Amino acid sequence: MEVGTLFFHPFWFICSLALLGMLWARRRRHTWRPEACPVDLSGKTAIVTGASSGIGKAVALDLARRNARTILACRSREKGQAAAEEIRRATGNPQVHLRLLDVSSMASVRDFAGQFLEEEKQLHILVNNAGVTGLPFAITAEGLELTFATNVSGAFLLTNLLLGTMIASAPARIVNVSSFRHYCARRVNVKFLTGEEQPKNCSQAYDSTKLMNVIFTTELARRLQGTGVSANVLSPGIVKTEIMRHFSWGARLLFKLCSIFLRNAREGAVSTLYCAVAKEVDGISGCLQDGLGICFLVHQQEPLPSNFFGLEMMPLSQLQYDL
Ligand SMILES: NC(=O)c1ccc[n+]([C@@H]2O[C@H](COP(=O)([O-])OP(=O)(O)OC[C@H]3O[C@@H](n4cnc5c(N)ncnc54)[C@H](OP(=O)(O)O)[C@@H]3O)[C@@H](O)[C@H]2O)c1
Repeated sequence: MEVGTLFFHPFWFICSLALLGMLWARRRRHTWRPEACPVDLSGKTAIVTGASSGIGKAVALDLARRNARTILACRSREKGQAAAEEIRRATGNPQVHLRLLDVSSMASVRDFAGQFLEEEKQLHILVNNAGVTGLPFAITAEGLELTFATNVSGAFLLTNLLLGTMIASAPARIVNVSSFRHYCARRVNVKFLTGEEQPKNCSQAYDSTKLMNVIFTTELARRLQGTGVSANVLSPGIVKTEIMRHFSWGARLLFKLCSIFLRNAREGAVSTLYCAVAKEVDGISGCLQDGLGICFLVHQQEPLPSNFFGLEMMPLSQLQYDL
């Protein structure tokens, strides 16, 4: 039989349909469902970074629905206000507030944290969700590489600045949003953080930032043992959001065409919510949640570079906490 004929054989057609059906069904499968989780967050305060769209907005909506005082940490006033209003309207929770934060700017992170610490007494949930991919190599005014500043350094500094309040508010949870792409990054190169060395392309940059999220979380969890503050990291799966906005139109079109097989933002928020609120996660720290609703321990494959958490070469050296 010719190869061409073989691929149009009814057997392959049926197999392809079955495979597509399985993929479609699998995108939704979670062993944990937020709507079946009765946890109420009255009296608790939560911050979600990058809550103006996509997964972050869906996470903030769920936390607000559980009556948390919910701080939307967004860089765009316009988009942030629209999201806050939408969430207040949908949940009836008046305790949903926008605070401006550009995680790629350490000055903005310090301003945000300073204002938060002035206004709030407690912090129970910190979701480091803001992230970008597809940006060209660029150095910020503070001397940091833009993708790394957004996905790694901002979350690192913000967490450190808020850690004292979280420990005082314990039990509290830190939730870092990584990606399955962290598996593609073979190693961490700290010189990427300042652009001293340049990743081969934006994919390598993104993968490295997401591996750094995992390593940061496992080390943070180790150092927070006994404080009542947990730190977990997750992959949300592949989710239909604005994440591809910086890619070429061709890549965006392909993503759009595949979107029927992808999770929507609400489904993509499940892993984050599992780490943030599920009773099953009480007392669990240093874990990777891979989007299937099951916690896996992260196995450290390589020793940490000795200067990773010192970050001596960065303006982050004046951290409030010596992590
Ligand atoms: N979608 C996926 O398939 C997927 C897969 C794996 C992991 N993730 C991760 O999930 C997280 C959320 O992404 P998403 O899919 O929801 O994408 P998204 O719709 O593009 O949302 C990203 C959010 O991050 C915000 N953000 C970006 N740069 C920021 C900055 N410098 N300061 C403050 N906020 C900033 C964006 O704000 P603006 O609206 O102002 O730009 C937006 O609210 C990211 O960490 C991403 O890496 C997503």
